Amino acid sequence: MKKTPSSQRWLQEHHSDSYVLQARKEGYRSRAAYKLLEIDRRDRLFRPGMVVLDLGAAPGGWSQIAARRVGPKGRVVALDRLAMPPLPGVEFHQGDIDDEECMDKILKSLDERGIDLVISDMAPNISGVNAVDLPRSIYLAELALDVARKVLHPGGDMLIKLFQGAGLDDYIKELRRSFRKVAHRKPQASRARSREVYVLGRDFHRE
Ligand SMILES: C[S@@+](CC[C@H](N)C(=O)[O-])C[C@H]1O[C@@H](n2cnc3c(N)ncnc32)[C@H](O)[C@@H]1O
Repeated sequence: MKKTPSSQRWLQEHHSDSYVLQARKEGYRSRAAYKLLEIDRRDRLFRPGMVVLDLGAAPGGWSQIAARRVGPKGRVVALDRLAMPPLPGVEFHQGDIDDEECMDKILKSLDERGIDLVISDMAPNISGVNAVDLPRSIYLAELALDVARKVLHPGGDMLIKLFQGAGLDDYIKELRRSFRKVAHRKPQASRARSREVYVLGRDFHRE
């Protein structure tokens, strides 16, 4: 693949990034793991025995944390359109969130316990053109919210990655229709110049 100046800069930054080095040392599959750890430290997302759905899970940093935190009585169901090497305690499905057949299979695999927490770190392939990237990311977020509305039981929570820009405010309004509390989080592990922001919806209710 041809290296553009921006992909070269990303690679240089990535290799010298302290979170990347830390992830390697501590055995996490992604630097994204530190974003979830930070949010969890503040918001206490996990409890032992919980059932968690991880959307856009590959390469598996968030799933690693979720599986450890819910413990042997919990369950982690993970989805990504890319392959992901197996992780203990994680039921991985390879497929696209936009693929109905794949999502039906996942929904059918859930028992009456439903899901306590949906986490979504899904992101489209970034082109660098906001007019293309933002609608794509909002579309993924809408699909994630549709899934959450189907699987969460009342009182459940959802953590989702979004990008600042067109469509974000309307999406937050939509979240507020289903969650009693909605809060923004920008963990330190998220690069300052990145437009990504995490939004946490708590206490799900059916309208
Ligand atoms: C930032 S990565 C997730 C990193 C992960 N949280 C971790 O800690 O390892 C975003 C993921 O979203 C996935 N993704 C993007 N669009 C998707 C879609 N339509 N369906 C399923 N997964 C998707 C990508 O394949 C990618 O692996």
